[in-house]
Amino acid sequence: MPTQENTKVHIRVLENIDRAVIALDNDGIITLFNPAAQAMTGLSERQALGKSFNVLFKGQSPLLKLVATALAAGRSVSNHEDITLYRPLSQPLPASVSVSPLLTESGSCDGAILILRDLSRLQDLEQAMRQSERLSQLGTLAAGLAHEIKNPLGGIKGAAQLLDLELPKESPLREYTAVMIRETERVNTIIEGLLELTRDRQPKWAGVNLGKILGDILLLQKTVYGEKQIDFLLDLDPSIPEFRGDEALLTQLFLNLIKNAAEAISDSGFVRISSKIVADYHLSLPGGRPAPFVTVEIRDNGTGIAREDLERIFTPFYTTKHLGSGLGLPLCQKIVRQHDGMLKAASEPGSGTVFSVSLPLIPPPGSGLGE
Ligand SMILES: Nc1ncnc2c1ncn2[C@@H]1O[C@H](COP(=O)(O)OP(=O)(O)OP(=O)(O)O)[C@@H](O)[C@H]1O
Ligand SMILES: [Mg+2]
Repeated sequence: MPTQENTKVHIRVLENIDRAVIALDNDGIITLFNPAAQAMTGLSERQALGKSFNVLFKGQSPLLKLVATALAAGRSVSNHEDITLYRPLSQPLPASVSVSPLLTESGSCDGAILILRDLSRLQDLEQAMRQSERLSQLGTLAAGLAHEIKNPLGGIKGAAQLLDLELPKESPLREYTAVMIRETERVNTIIEGLLELTRDRQPKWAGVNLGKILGDILLLQKTVYGEKQIDFLLDLDPSIPEFRGDEALLTQLFLNLIKNAAEAISDSGFVRISSKIVADYHLSLPGGRPAPFVTVEIRDNGTGIAREDLERIFTPFYTTKHLGSGLGLPLCQKIVRQHDGMLKAASEPGSGTVFSVSLPLIPPPGSGLGE
């Protein structure tokens, strides 16, 4: 028999574990619904206890089938891949689920126990990995090609400049040389961008101040979109400490995202930048101490991105802009990865887009706290 002390420990475990634990009796009535189950399903303990599991999760057949299979077979069954939990008022959640029969001391079946794990963070990481693989394959090819193109391009530009000098000042043909020079410069900018993307340069770590970086960018951006009515709003969590980062790279990252947001606005709108520390994720530092993350959101109420295009925006050269290179976001992705962070995009066509950058708050070098 379990002692009272034992039972207390069991309850504490169930209350603190980060997996949803749901127990059912033989009639499929819910007898236990721990806090993680409440957080994952969006249902309170009161809404769940004493209710029929089949009724509460009606229509979610893969989940119901898993429970039925475990009970019929009298053994544990799991699905780690394709269960999606549909929830009232929140986004569907990918989950890994295992169901085990609950056995009495004599070995007869007394119900079932479900354990669910939230896979959304894992899926984000997988997606980030797929994107970075795609980039590194392309990178090798592109870097070689870019080098090959740069030299002849320089030759073409030089020849066009000489031709321009040879032509009489008033010659209408000078319009053509001007186009040649301008366009070679444009190709050169693209090549430079591509080389930057594929270059294997290590970041220069120092202590960075996020508020200063964002403030400086906004100061300049406010003057760039003169004819558009764009409100730039900055909502910073003041408790964000200095952390390890490369200021030049982080400036490039946020500048690209803020420019994209502003460019997505046709006539008038807003670009809101907010930051907060998130305690739910952390990165383990040497010595086992956890580093929390800061998440910076860049939100606009511009055109938005269609669902089928959302996967493609990080692919080099994908652009929908007349003069865009399509290298902005792949570069952002690279910078975030160099900082051991994550970059995510969500969008509602017609309503706007939000990019979120999550960076680990690793103590700066020389602070005596970190590496
Ligand atoms: N905030 C946003 N709102 C709507 N669409 C966006 C947003 N950010 C990016 N996009 C889409 O993603 C595409 C790729 O963006 P990316 O920054 O990589 O290149 P670009 O902005 O087109 O070119 P460049 O950055 O070289 O000027 C854009 O062309 C646009 O279609
Ligand atoms: Mg861009």
